[in-house]
Amino acid sequence: MTLHSFAGIHPTVAPSAFIAPGAQIIGAVTIGDDASIWYNCVLRGDVETISVGARSNIQDGSVVHVTTRRWKTEIHDDVLIGHLAMIHGCIIESHGFVGLGSIVMDGCVIESDGMLAAGAMLTPGKRIGRGELWAGRPAKLLRHLSADDIARNRAGAAGYVELAKLHRATTTEPQG
Ligand SMILES: CC(C)(COP(=O)(O)OP(=O)(O)OC[C@H]1O[C@@H](n2cnc3c(N)ncnc32)[C@H](O)[C@@H]1OP(=O)(O)O)[C@@H](O)C(=O)NCCC(=O)NCCS
Repeated sequence: MTLHSFAGIHPTVAPSAFIAPGAQIIGAVTIGDDASIWYNCVLRGDVETISVGARSNIQDGSVVHVTTRRWKTEIHDDVLIGHLAMIHGCIIESHGFVGLGSIVMDGCVIESDGMLAAGAMLTPGKRIGRGELWAGRPAKLLRHLSADDIARNRAGAAGYVELAKLHRATTTEPQG
């Protein structure tokens, strides 16, 4: 069982999305076309809503949650979220990148093509500007991404769309 109703609300998942075995998706969660939610993620839309845009990926073991009537979580299109990330009550705009093992806290915004490095902690209300790379705990601006960096990050997200199709075709557990 992967998709769970909460308080009468069932997750809405695009037919082309890939939800890997072991992922748990609860309540007011919307997942867009060709998005992928990898093995053992938890997306808990109980006290606010969670949306995941088209072609975005949330990698293995990540947790996405919200804060009661205050902070929903919006993950826009073509976003990459690395393994074991903690995404809480924040907005990640299109082509945003969250490195593996990172934490994004309430009220944060990662603007388009913004990047949070692996192992970072973005503290409440911080904003990563367009094309900025932040790193560390607490995270600080490290540098501005080059055009090559941005292209590499975008290619990473696009690669996950293809990888998800392969997993979807070969995983043994039924979807839904
Ligand atoms: C931040 C990152 C992009 C490297 O950036 P970079 O500018 O190429 O950094 P470099 O490797 O040249 O290192 C420069 C300095 O930053 C430090 N640094 C590198 N990565 C860091 C990180 N994640 N957090 C904190 N400091 C980091 C290095 O130790 C080095 O410090 P020094 O100058 O004191 O020796 C990379 O570490 C990263 O986080 N990539 C994300 C990978 C990922 O999560 N993928 C998702 C799964 S697919």
